[in-house]
Amino acid sequence: MVWVSIFWHPVWAVFTAVLAVVVRIQRRGPWDPHACSVRLKGKTAIVTGANTGIGKFIALDLARRGARVILACRSEDRGTAALKEIREKTGNSDIHLRLVDLSSLDSVREFAKGILTEEKALHILVNNAGVSGLPRQITKDGFESSFATNHLGPFLLTNLLLDLMKSSAPARIVTLSSVNHKKGVVDFSHFHGENLTYHMDSVYNHTKLHNVICTKELARRLEGTGVTANSVHPGIVMTEVLRHYPLMIRIIFNLVGFFFFKSSEEGATSSIYCAVAEEMEGITGKYCDSDCCLVLPAPLARDAALAVKDFEISERLTSKL
Ligand SMILES: NC(=O)c1ccc[n+]([C@@H]2O[C@H](COP(=O)([O-])OP(=O)(O)OC[C@H]3O[C@@H](n4cnc5c(N)ncnc54)[C@H](OP(=O)(O)O)[C@@H]3O)[C@@H](O)[C@H]2O)c1
Ligand SMILES: *[C@@H]1O[C@H](CO)[C@@H](O)[C@H](O)[C@H]1NC(C)=O
Ligand SMILES: *[C@@H]1O[C@H](CO)[C@@H](O)[C@H](O)[C@H]1NC(C)=O
Repeated sequence: MVWVSIFWHPVWAVFTAVLAVVVRIQRRGPWDPHACSVRLKGKTAIVTGANTGIGKFIALDLARRGARVILACRSEDRGTAALKEIREKTGNSDIHLRLVDLSSLDSVREFAKGILTEEKALHILVNNAGVSGLPRQITKDGFESSFATNHLGPFLLTNLLLDLMKSSAPARIVTLSSVNHKKGVVDFSHFHGENLTYHMDSVYNHTKLHNVICTKELARRLEGTGVTANSVHPGIVMTEVLRHYPLMIRIIFNLVGFFFFKSSEEGATSSIYCAVAEEMEGITGKYCDSDCCLVLPAPLARDAALAVKDFEISERLTSKL
């Protein structure tokens, strides 16, 4: 076992540390939002879950470009803090907070009703809010909580705002999925919390697969309307996304993350790319990775028949009838 001891030699520790620092320094984004001169004066945008993490940086960027930005958050306190911060940092006072709990269909309907009466147009919708690692819960609508928050809530929200977006065309819908969608499967009994296991992020993985599938199908339905819909992977990003995980896991994530993962600001890049970049004009039904490249999603996310079924079932579950 003597050879094993060479791995404990201090040289390895020093090499590893140097390598980590080099990786950290070399790390840079593929497309730079700051170098993109697109202005959004006169445009209206909604970002869900805009009070922290990736969503806050997406909202900040849109605000900097002069858009009217609606922060769709569930907490009045956290939302107000973000509102103040974004107004201060950008000098844009046309930033507003509207409350919504995406895990509740009633709350989503109420929110959409408010938007439809208050707003004359909607050019950008970023479905950013999401949860991971939630323990099993069933919402008052009878849905599994992670599915309600990550898929059914945003799905209903998008559908309720579609007519407004069509009349504002060109308009763009961006939905935050995850590379984890590749490990997801489709089983419609999941929506009601059946046949689910809660280890290794499996529930999260399934919800993120529905995001890609339904965004693609939505894009197909929107052809010719001037409204585009794409899904993105933001990268592995140091946000509060692990808030429901044990402290030890969060500490390790942040330690490793400092060197190798993206900051929240960097994690916002691929979503901003899809929401504003000229390169994405007219492009729809695609999946964008964290380097702002359009790549193929998992095979299940490319199954057109499955997409029609998923969309129809999601529509039925979120309709009032
Ligand atoms: N971080 C990553 O590595 C990573 C990787 C792949 C994909 N993503 C995706 O990126 C998106 C943003 O994640 P993040 O990393 O920025 O996470 P985060 O820091 O945890 O932020 C999530 C946001 O969603 C909001 N939210 C959660 N449940 C909600 C509900 N029921 N109603 C309304 N808002 C709700 C949160 O509001 P509160 O603050 O009030 O809870 C918060 O604003 C998610 O869709 C996530 O799946 C993240
Ligand atoms: C899902 O669960 C239901 C009952 O909860 C069961 O009847 C069904 O066979 C299960 N489906 C799968 C694919 O395991
Ligand atoms: C969920 O996805 C992650 C990332 O791809 C993977 O590490 C994990 O094993 C997946 N979980 C399951 C149950 O497949």
